[in-house]
Amino acid sequence: MEHAASRGGFSGKMGFILAAAGSAVGLGNLWRFPYLAEQYGGGIFLLVYLILVIVCGVSLMITELAIGRRTGKSCIDAFLDLGERNKYVGWFIALIPIIILPYYCVIGGWVTKYFVEYAIGAGSDLASGSYFNDFMSASMGGVFDSPLTWFLIYALLTILVVAFSVEKGVERVSKFMMPALLILLVGMCVYMLTLPGIMDGLGFYLVPNFDDFSMKTVLGAMGQLFYSLSLAMGIMITYGSYMRKHVNIERSSQTICLMDTSVAFLSGLMIVPAVVIFSDVGLSSGPGLMFNTMPLVFDSMPAGHIIGAAFFLLAMFAALTSSISLAETVVSIFKDRWKWKRLIACGACFAIMICLGVLSVFGYGPLSGIQPLGMAFLDFFDFITNSVMMPISALAICLIVGYIIKPRFIIEEIEAEGNRFQMARIYPVMVKVVCPIFMAVVLVTGLLSYFGIYSI
Ligand code: PFF
Repeated sequence: MEHAASRGGFSGKMGFILAAAGSAVGLGNLWRFPYLAEQYGGGIFLLVYLILVIVCGVSLMITELAIGRRTGKSCIDAFLDLGERNKYVGWFIALIPIIILPYYCVIGGWVTKYFVEYAIGAGSDLASGSYFNDFMSASMGGVFDSPLTWFLIYALLTILVVAFSVEKGVERVSKFMMPALLILLVGMCVYMLTLPGIMDGLGFYLVPNFDDFSMKTVLGAMGQLFYSLSLAMGIMITYGSYMRKHVNIERSSQTICLMDTSVAFLSGLMIVPAVVIFSDVGLSSGPGLMFNTMPLVFDSMPAGHIIGAAFFLLAMFAALTSSISLAETVVSIFKDRWKWKRLIACGACFAIMICLGVLSVFGYGPLSGIQPLGMAFLDFFDFITNSVMMPISALAICLIVGYIIKPRFIIEEIEAEGNRFQMARIYPVMVKVVCPIFMAVVLVTGLLSYFGIYSI
């Protein structure tokens, strides 16, 4: 068995945390978290999300990292190692990044377009209420006005980095970009607090209103938790396989969860209250929220176009580190399973990105007549992965660890080289009882209420 120590990997604790945080912090925090928070009742969504991170997020991250480090393998092979019968679980989980990557690149394309508009000084055009919808429905003519072009540019950028193995270069740049993004987010939040009328918006975001609670909210928050922390899709298993034995898995998991949640919280603080402040413009919510509100905020501030360019550039880097880690996972599945050469595996990955990505791009325009489960293609891919496949995959991981390989397998790995596992006592309960029951209940009731069959 190839072991973590012989796989080389991250140089130390900080190297590992930065790489994992690079994968975790991305569009999930900046784009997805705020629009879900707005959609699912503000404060109540925030509260449910925080509880879920503490109850399920940390335990799941510990579990995945430990499976990866103990087996020294990535997702499919790691599950094979845990028993022939688990093979299908590995395959099911491996399918998730393949579905997410294409639509992730579509949104990466929107961010790239907005960055370029600000960089060439045309940022104020974006602040007209209908800009984003016109752009999405590709009704503005011109090659550089089409979301397809920007998707292709972003997807090409992602796959080129992976094909030519220049991730290290991107990582080096993002070491500066990540802290810069954090500083900019804090600065923007401080600015937002000075805007007239902010109190109503803040109240909506920070104070839970229990009348807005439903199982749909919990299902949404749970899907977001997996997505944002890059959990339940095999990524953290792969990251774990590159982790050195002396690194403390528990402490690292807590740090990554804390970093990721802080960025999500700040993005929400920057975007959600703005909806109330700029409500007279008639902002549309949903996936376009960030692209509708941020230009209005930048338009209202001094030197807004420079800050807007900086914001979208930093968002682009955060997105790139995530899409590269997604693409890297897909490529390594092809390489490991079928022994394909790197470039061929990248070609296959790019072909899938294009096919599914084009559906997502046109789903808001020419293909809007086709609506799987009553949703546009992008929303459908997002829903099926986050709200259906990922809860199932997390449930399967917990059941396998809890009842087949047993929690000791994980605990021993965490306690390797004298590390202390503070949660050692409650971990078996979490992984055998609390997390599975929680996830099964949320998945079933959430789906029933999503489709209006039964509602709590
Ligand atoms: N966690 C990323 C985000 O919040 O944007 C999304 C993601 C990246 C998921 C990489 C999975 C992954 F492998």
